[in-house]
Amino acid sequence: MSIAPVEHAFANADAQAQALADAVAARLREGIDARGGAWLAVPGGATPRKFLAALARQALDWPRVTVILTDERLVPADDARSNARLLRESLLDHVQATFVPLVDAQSGKMDLSTTAEFAHAFDAVVLGMGADGHCASLFADGDNIAAALRVDTVESVLNMRSPSVPEARVTLTLSALVATRALFVLIRGADKRRTLESALRGVKPFAHAPIRAVLEHAPVAPQIYWSP
Ligand code: 6PG
Repeated sequence: MSIAPVEHAFANADAQAQALADAVAARLREGIDARGGAWLAVPGGATPRKFLAALARQALDWPRVTVILTDERLVPADDARSNARLLRESLLDHVQATFVPLVDAQSGKMDLSTTAEFAHAFDAVVLGMGADGHCASLFADGDNIAAALRVDTVESVLNMRSPSVPEARVTLTLSALVATRALFVLIRGADKRRTLESALRGVKPFAHAPIRAVLEHAPVAPQIYWSP
């Protein structure tokens, strides 16, 4: 591991969500103060809901914050599995941040204009992780995983299909995810902790999990936020 991760363990999901919201908000304030604006990437799935709600309660100059998802499922925007719907319900309906979608709502396909939108580093990237060691939609059995994990990949966003999930995905690539001033991993449960530990130690069965590749290339110490 290039830069050792820093572990933050919490007694419960509420304490974890509040602590992560505090830490992410601090990075966004730094970005706004230093560069007039801040960029944030957040995951989808079920875990982030509490964190995003806690973030929405932060006092921030929200019009100067741009938010993007680490990945999206190719489902209708109002589908219960839509990450954009999760983000809208838990954050965007409550603060005046700018949202850069990965998927065009009309076509339901990757929004190609998104790649051009972010040509600089994020102020904070928050990753979720599956018990199989995927992060964003970087699945070990994904059809585009080799390209998505190459550090020299010029694309910031790629389509991804995996037999592990029911729908086609769009995902930020490794090179996009590690272009950040702060990197956080938000996970809950013993299974994911075991997966992350195996990946970080480079031992089976997760020695080659995508999460390891991303954390290995992080330019800053990954901050691991875990709760039972
Ligand atoms: C997604 C996410 C994905 C997620 C993990 C964990 O679209 O599914 O972005 O990378 O972080 O699958 O999901 P849970 O939080 O639901 O366990």
